[in-house]
Amino acid sequence: MSTADYHAWTVTAVTLAQQAGELARQKLAAPLERTSKGFRDLVTNADLAAQMLITSAIQQQYPHHAFLAEENDTTLPSTGSVHWVIDPIDGTSNFSRQLPIFCTSIAAVHNDQVVAAAIYDPMRQELFQATLGQPSLLNNQPIRVNNNTDLATSMSACDWSRDANNRTTMHKIHASLIHKVTNIRAFGSATLSLAWIAAGRLDFYFNPRLSPWDFAAAQLILTNAGGTLTTWNNDTPSLSSPCRILASNNHFHATLLSEFAPYC
Ligand code: IPD
Ligand code: CA
Ligand code: CA
Repeated sequence: MSTADYHAWTVTAVTLAQQAGELARQKLAAPLERTSKGFRDLVTNADLAAQMLITSAIQQQYPHHAFLAEENDTTLPSTGSVHWVIDPIDGTSNFSRQLPIFCTSIAAVHNDQVVAAAIYDPMRQELFQATLGQPSLLNNQPIRVNNNTDLATSMSACDWSRDANNRTTMHKIHASLIHKVTNIRAFGSATLSLAWIAAGRLDFYFNPRLSPWDFAAAQLILTNAGGTLTTWNNDTPSLSSPCRILASNNHFHATLLSEFAPYC
């Protein structure tokens, strides 16, 4: 595989993220079919349609590639030298209530690293993209994390997780951290929150349990924009299983890791 392949995969990710995001936006006002797929976890007909749009196009273009896609589809191959990590709608809870904070996320993984990535926010028509070794772009303009180093003026985000134990952990972290920062938002789309750090809008983000499809595309976009994304232990997150995630503009990372250390 060469850099040219990585660029071609970014073009594929960009095209399909825009198409799937637009499909979701068009379905936003229509009555949705909602199905529970777990505790506090929903899937809608729009999630399934958006995923099918993405996976069928990739299978046509790259018949030997594999998939790690959020919505269950046993027909998709799961092993191969290249795999696509897909979240058709990140922020389904928001989407299902017509809260306009959600996006589509697509990443291509080769040799255990993300090499091509696209995130599309259809409500703001914002397209984030990156290719390994290249600057991250927002609507084709280079982006960088901000230079804030002062925790007291920081604006961050988190999400609360569905699981009761993780919510208790987050509650304990907030009890201390909320007094040291300007504020901590909970937007309900991990992927968009991470992309917004890459664009310099937020300083950091934390979540006690993210799946690879929540952060894979954002990981490349954020790191190519100068940011850092690790586990709460400062390890490289697994691209095959859920992790506790801390992402930042890089300047806050060491300070925050010590806040999170008791909860690793
Ligand atoms: C969820 C969102 C949410 C995060 C959850 C994710 P989904 O993704 O990113 O912000 O807290 O952990 O599962 O289910 O809307 O794709
Ligand atoms: Ca999703
Ligand atoms: Ca998600």
